[in-house]
Amino acid sequence: MAAGARGGLIRAVFLLSSGVLAHVEDLDDTFKDSRMDDVWLVDFYAPWCGYCKKLEPIWHEVGAELKSSGSPVRVGKMDATAYSGIASEYGVRGYPTIKLLKGDLAYNYKGQRTKDDIIEFANRVAGPAVRSLPSRQMFDHVLKRHDVLFVYVGGESPLKEKYIDVASELIVYTYFFSASEDVLPESVTLPELPAVVVFKDGSFFTYDQYEDGSLSSWVNRERFQGYLQIDGFTLYELGETGKLVAIAVINEKEQNEESTRLKDLIQRVATEYRGHFNRDFQFGHMDGNDYINSLIMSEVQVPSVIVLNTSNEQYFLPQEPVNTLEQLVGFINSVLDGSAQAHGGDGIFQRMKRVAYDARSTVMSVFRSSPLLGCFLFGLPLGVISLMCYGMCTAESDDGADDMELMKRDGLAEEDEEEEEEEEEERRRLAEEMEEDEEEEEDEEEKSPQEKKVD
Ligand SMILES: *[C@@H]1O[C@H](CO)[C@@H](O)[C@H](O)[C@H]1NC(C)=O
Repeated sequence: MAAGARGGLIRAVFLLSSGVLAHVEDLDDTFKDSRMDDVWLVDFYAPWCGYCKKLEPIWHEVGAELKSSGSPVRVGKMDATAYSGIASEYGVRGYPTIKLLKGDLAYNYKGQRTKDDIIEFANRVAGPAVRSLPSRQMFDHVLKRHDVLFVYVGGESPLKEKYIDVASELIVYTYFFSASEDVLPESVTLPELPAVVVFKDGSFFTYDQYEDGSLSSWVNRERFQGYLQIDGFTLYELGETGKLVAIAVINEKEQNEESTRLKDLIQRVATEYRGHFNRDFQFGHMDGNDYINSLIMSEVQVPSVIVLNTSNEQYFLPQEPVNTLEQLVGFINSVLDGSAQAHGGDGIFQRMKRVAYDARSTVMSVFRSSPLLGCFLFGLPLGVISLMCYGMCTAESDDGADDMELMKRDGLAEEDEEEEEEEEEERRRLAEEMEEDEEEEEDEEEKSPQEKKVD
């Protein structure tokens, strides 16, 4: 009875709190039946996971804002450990996993877990896969808002069907639009229609199904600006394009002539050699070398140029200083044709190195952020271990002394008439021998057990 009352109380408190936070619905296994009627944004969490706890307040803001903005997206959360059957049906492997569920489709959210990013994702993916741009004004408006803009131009066609297919898959990354030709600015002339065009880097590029491979691989390659400011997260996103990443590593705060020159050169290669390198390379610069250093487990100079292969964790450094455009192009070409020396990689040796490197960085970072805690965390076990070692060593020599005494006593037992002085002398002699030579000590120790047995 008492337990039942308590259960009721807990449920009442729970209902109260979920009433206050009604914009995020707690989902259970009945969700499967009701989910098809709506578009759902779901946080699959585990009660014990720290990142999930960090997401929770953000998630409530997301729920509140989507609700107040009149979005049709319903926001929920599900304890993936309690309803593991449903969670595994949706392919939930880590926590938290954010998914947008729309009809039969489930879209993974892979962006940063901030309110604005999540809401932008929800609105983008929940809306139509392809949005039409009915006027020049609309076109100009979205062109201003998006760094990279995909537009299908033309009427109904097999290419349009393909475009819609690709859009409904890749809408997790970017928006897709369609327009008629007269909506585009006069400066944009297309050799033939229908066409798929990407507007970016102050220019536009048209998909060529004979040269560019499948439409989805082309979109995947073109969905970033030609030149980017790169950080760890961008690098992770770029990984999915399969491109090599050529980076000027600079220090934004202390830009000198050389860092400006390197940045400039990379930028020029990105635009002037786009036709040549765009398929295989992404270009950009990165502020500071901390991230790269931990990635390659070595120290890169600042400023410098590095090419990363995010697929196999290899990296390339120019053999000679890069001073001119020709030198940089030569270096990038040498990476492309395989003549440049590759470093790193994901082989077994590199993986072992990674384990050691990560362990070392953890220790270092603890010491750096809190030296006292570091001393305690790592000093304490070290202290205990050294005490144990010390104890073991001294215990061993104690044993030796005991054995010797035993020997002595045995000796005394055999020769009753030995005098105490002689015994003293013998003991001193043995002790001296022990100090002089370890091997002799070992001999003594080997002998002593036999002596014991005799006893
Ligand atoms: C980058 O890594 C991938 C995957 O291992 C490999 O196929 C490709 O050849 C590499 N590129 C270069 C330039 O080494």
